[in-house]
Amino acid sequence: MVRQGRVIVNGDFAELGQRIDSAVDRVEVDGLRVQLDPTKQYFLLNKAEGVITTTKDPEGRTTVLDVIGIHERVFPVGRLDIATEGLLLLTNDGELTHRLTHPSFEVTKTYVAEVAGSIGRGVIRKLTVTGVDLGEEELFKADAVRVLGSRKGPGGNRAVVELDVHEGPKHLVRRVMEAVDRPVLRLVRTGMGPLKLGRMKTGSYRHLTQAEVDALYREVGL
Ligand code: URA
Repeated sequence: MVRQGRVIVNGDFAELGQRIDSAVDRVEVDGLRVQLDPTKQYFLLNKAEGVITTTKDPEGRTTVLDVIGIHERVFPVGRLDIATEGLLLLTNDGELTHRLTHPSFEVTKTYVAEVAGSIGRGVIRKLTVTGVDLGEEELFKADAVRVLGSRKGPGGNRAVVELDVHEGPKHLVRRVMEAVDRPVLRLVRTGMGPLKLGRMKTGSYRHLTQAEVDALYREVGL
């Protein structure tokens, strides 16, 4: 069965054969906005450790743009530390970038951190309820913390913990974990709103699907 999508252009039902300007008109199919502008580019990179989140580096280090090797002017959405791995979106969609990175839109970013030490109830409570003093106006609280694993080793305990946060100051996760005395040994971003890293190989990249772009648009109310 072919499913008939309900197409709305700028708030009105589309007419058969209606022409649209993809750069200006707002098109929705079954209630979901569709990004049709062919000049808009969206890449998802699984950033490797050692790659820097900038478009040019005066010191000649490998940048995220070197990795995806494209000449279109796309920019990273937010930044990951040089040592941090994982999900990095690159796009030339300025409004989407603004909304995904501005704290007022409260887009959840998910990180998986391997830390030194174990994570018990006390640490989780501090991270989510009591809050952590980072020297800012308010105490920092994570939206959620999940312990994914822990092990004892000759050099001490290690834990793997997943954190949902919606703020973006520099080195946030490393600073927060340092503040609870669980320094980060490895950090990977695995999610940004509805966008998930999934099983991409470190250092690989791909175009976002239309469904992923739509989901990001919806997340930030575009
Ligand atoms: N928090 C950090 O500490 N580093 C990152 O790269 C991202 C979030």
